[in-house]
Amino acid sequence: MSRLKNKAAIITGAGSGIGRATAKLFAAQGAKVAILDKNGESGHETANEIVSEGAWAVAIEVDLADGVEAEKAVTKATEALGGLDILVNNAATYIARGFFEISREEWQKVLDANLTAYFLCARRAAQEMRRLGREGSIINIGSVHQRLSEPRSGAYAASKGAIAQLTRNLAIEFAPFNIVVNSITPGFIRTPMSVVDGMDETRTERFIKSYVESGRIPLGRAGLPEEVAAAALFLAARECAYMTGADLVVDGGLMITL
Ligand SMILES: NC(=O)c1ccc[n+]([C@@H]2O[C@H](COP(=O)([O-])OP(=O)(O)OC[C@H]3O[C@@H](n4cnc5c(N)ncnc54)[C@H](O)[C@@H]3O)[C@@H](O)[C@H]2O)c1
Repeated sequence: MSRLKNKAAIITGAGSGIGRATAKLFAAQGAKVAILDKNGESGHETANEIVSEGAWAVAIEVDLADGVEAEKAVTKATEALGGLDILVNNAATYIARGFFEISREEWQKVLDANLTAYFLCARRAAQEMRRLGREGSIINIGSVHQRLSEPRSGAYAASKGAIAQLTRNLAIEFAPFNIVVNSITPGFIRTPMSVVDGMDETRTERFIKSYVESGRIPLGRAGLPEEVAAAALFLAARECAYMTGADLVVDGGLMITL
């Protein structure tokens, strides 16, 4: 119950899905958590759920695609938390468009949220950790789309491919300060994001079933947000303090079929 006792964590995109499950798990394990989400209502909902369980949480509404605001929000969250030990870069945007249809603005919006915000939040968090003289753990949530290529997912996939390399480069530069940087690669996880664009839930279920039946998910089912959160807890708690620049794949085996 106290793997994160006295730890302070920022989790982006914790108003929903994987981020929400991670914030709730970290809080249940003793951490104070700051939720950064562009959806103020759902961010506060997560914070309220945590507080009602007797733990500590604060929600900050911010569009992380705005780099200046993203950096300010990390500093504001650190102040509210009274320190910083953990950052989970999780908020991401998916726009389903083919390369012939996507506008330059849409392309930029995806990269701003899914790549530039990860870099800016990681850098500001590491600056705060160094200023406070604390070691730290930064976790970047990537995706199987770093390798999986499907039509109409190019901008998202490009951003996720970049996260894999960003993680390794951050790990090299932050290692001298005992700040570790690792990533998690989720597969098909049941969250609002995985309700396939333009499909209702029944059609999404059929889509998942077709993935499983064609042998593309060896464990035979979609994953749960709590299963990704469990991997984040392992990295956040630094139970293996000798890991940096590594990737934990949480995908039911999908990547091994590629
Ligand atoms: N669900 C999946 O199948 C799946 C698979 C692989 C990877 N992932 C990754 O997991 C992470 C979480 O995804 P999820 O499925 O929980 O998504 P979700 O849509 O359920 O939640 C994403 C949250 O991020 C917030 N957000 C999005 N853009 C933002 C921005 N610019 N500024 C601030 N907040 C923003 C949203 O408001 C939302 O609360 C993402 O990085 C996603 O790419 C998800």
